[in-house]
Amino acid sequence: MTFPALFVHEHAPRVRIRHISGEDLPGGGDTLVRVAWSGINYKDALAVTGEGPIIRGALPFIPGIDLCGEILETTATEWRRGDCVVQTGWGLGETEWGGYSGQQRVHARHLIRLPAGLSSRHAMIAGTAGLTAMLAILAIEDAGITPDSGDILVTGASGGVGTFAIMALAQAGYRVVASSGSSANHAYLESLGAHRVMDRAELGHGAARPLDSGRWAGAVDAVGGKTLEAILSQTRRHGCVASCGLVGGEGFTSTVFPFILRGLRLQGIDSNTCPNRVRMKAWKRIAALTEIYDFDSLAEEVALEDTEAACRRVLAGGHTGRIIVSPVVNPHGN
Ligand SMILES: NC(=O)c1ccc[n+]([C@@H]2O[C@H](COP(=O)([O-])OP(=O)(O)OC[C@H]3O[C@@H](n4cnc5c(N)ncnc54)[C@H](OP(=O)(O)O)[C@@H]3O)[C@@H](O)[C@H]2O)c1
Repeated sequence: MTFPALFVHEHAPRVRIRHISGEDLPGGGDTLVRVAWSGINYKDALAVTGEGPIIRGALPFIPGIDLCGEILETTATEWRRGDCVVQTGWGLGETEWGGYSGQQRVHARHLIRLPAGLSSRHAMIAGTAGLTAMLAILAIEDAGITPDSGDILVTGASGGVGTFAIMALAQAGYRVVASSGSSANHAYLESLGAHRVMDRAELGHGAARPLDSGRWAGAVDAVGGKTLEAILSQTRRHGCVASCGLVGGEGFTSTVFPFILRGLRLQGIDSNTCPNRVRMKAWKRIAALTEIYDFDSLAEEVALEDTEAACRRVLAGGHTGRIIVSPVVNPHGN
């Protein structure tokens, strides 16, 4: 039986769809998964377009850092054929062939059982972006920040991480301020649960002074760079800033003052290598969000052959929410 897979090649055309069989998959993993859905994260967009050095395996290579589906074969004793599983990260789509394939061979130790009530489609609508947002919120909660502590800032608000951060924070009772560069998205961000939307330009110039007036009890920052500099200077005593991303830049400077005079916690979020026990907790919280939010309304669906164009749109900015990938070739050919 053959199935389609999206390969990145070294020479043009860089992206090609090929029909392969299970024997063509690398032999390292102990578990074969029929992929129901994958998704497009910022990292995937960089990998597919070649705009960033994400792929560290030999080319041709199948990208896709997320996959969800059911087990077809496994030698791992804790899993059975037919079990519904999700894998995000652990090198998937970076060092190991990823989710843009009808089937993929993976390591059972990297799999999470889909929590009750969460479909594979909804799991991929959340994907790495939703997981990252939830890990950031767990970190904020772990720092002792409660809804009474004050406003929580979410930057890169219209993106995947931002969307899920707003929803999960609002659902947990926090007052969320969304920072966005897209004035057209204000109503969308408020509909997710943002109390207020601010223009991202307000934070984009960095810190006015090492300690500015304290505006935020916590922050989920997907932007980094100057924005992170500004957030650190504006976060209140014993606040927590969860640093997730770098769409606005990877470098930042600060002083020790927010840390030694305000006891600030700067918490890094790494969804790629996060331990499975923390992932389980986060996925259960994501499953609970599906009872409140209409996940389907947050997502656009693309076939494998439309994935490259969708990745370019992600990098161009201006999109909202999530894009999920069905590992089939567009049946209508359009
Ligand atoms: N640490 C981890 O484990 C982890 C996991 C997933 C993602 N990430 C990182 O988190 C970041 C966001 O990922 P994502 O999937 O949410 O990406 P995304 O869907 O592309 O969203 C990024 C959002 O950031 C805003 N933005 C875009 N360009 C910007 C710029 N130059 N300056 C400031 N804001 C800008 C836009 O929102 P507005 O229009 O509302 O401003 C955009 O929608 C990326 O850097 C990604 O690599 C990290």
